[in-house]
Amino acid sequence: MRGIILSGGLATRLRPCTKVTSKQLLPVYNRPMIYYPLNTLIKAGIKEILIIASPERAGDYLNLLGSGKEFGVKFTYEIQDKPGGLSQAYIIGENFIDKEDVIMILGDNIFEDDFANAIKNFKGGCRVFAKKVPDPERFGVVKFDENKKVVQIVEKPKEWISDFALTGLYITDGRVVEIAKSLKPSGRGELEITDIHNWYLQRNELDVEIVDGEWIDAGTFDSLLRAQILAKEKLQDKLII
Ligand code: G1P
Repeated sequence: MRGIILSGGLATRLRPCTKVTSKQLLPVYNRPMIYYPLNTLIKAGIKEILIIASPERAGDYLNLLGSGKEFGVKFTYEIQDKPGGLSQAYIIGENFIDKEDVIMILGDNIFEDDFANAIKNFKGGCRVFAKKVPDPERFGVVKFDENKKVVQIVEKPKEWISDFALTGLYITDGRVVEIAKSLKPSGRGELEITDIHNWYLQRNELDVEIVDGEWIDAGTFDSLLRAQILAKEKLQDKLII
């Protein structure tokens, strides 16, 4: 399985800290933020990793991470010219993915869990990971029926539909590139990741696993602060890079 870390975007919510650097390079306790999703992929056994960055910051990622040899993996770099949505990463990564299964993680997502098993027993379709949160309106949200079957996935719903947020970690088969190409931009002009999930859901090929440990999307000042504390208090002895 191939891995993608999507680390684009301008992170205007974190200005002025992100005026001259990218969010995913800000420190989370004693490491740059991107080290945490990188750890998640490397610990799960992923050896080929595509890093997607904005044109302004791509050089910084190359300087920081290099070829990957130091970590026993191989990095490839691609540019996302404009923030056009998470699904755009699959189109940018088409050659890299090369019709193989792919795990994508967002560069600001910090997990305590280990995903090695979720990768090992993946047999096609799409597997996403949900976590009960107090602020579901910030996220893609998944609604279950009374039999725990997925009934609906919605990006940042205005009206409450569920407390289960979709975390920024997605396992898909190689069809995802063609699915991404077939999407139309949403009202906010982006190719939404939830549209890909709904494509698989409509065909009964989507499964959702619940994340047991802590998960933080470090995209706001408050969640970044919580990420620092999680990193210091719980993650240090789990990190391999
Ligand atoms: C993105 C996705 C959202 C997901 C979240 C997880 O939102 O669009 O579905 O729940 O990541 O971190 P963003 O943080 O880019 O607003």
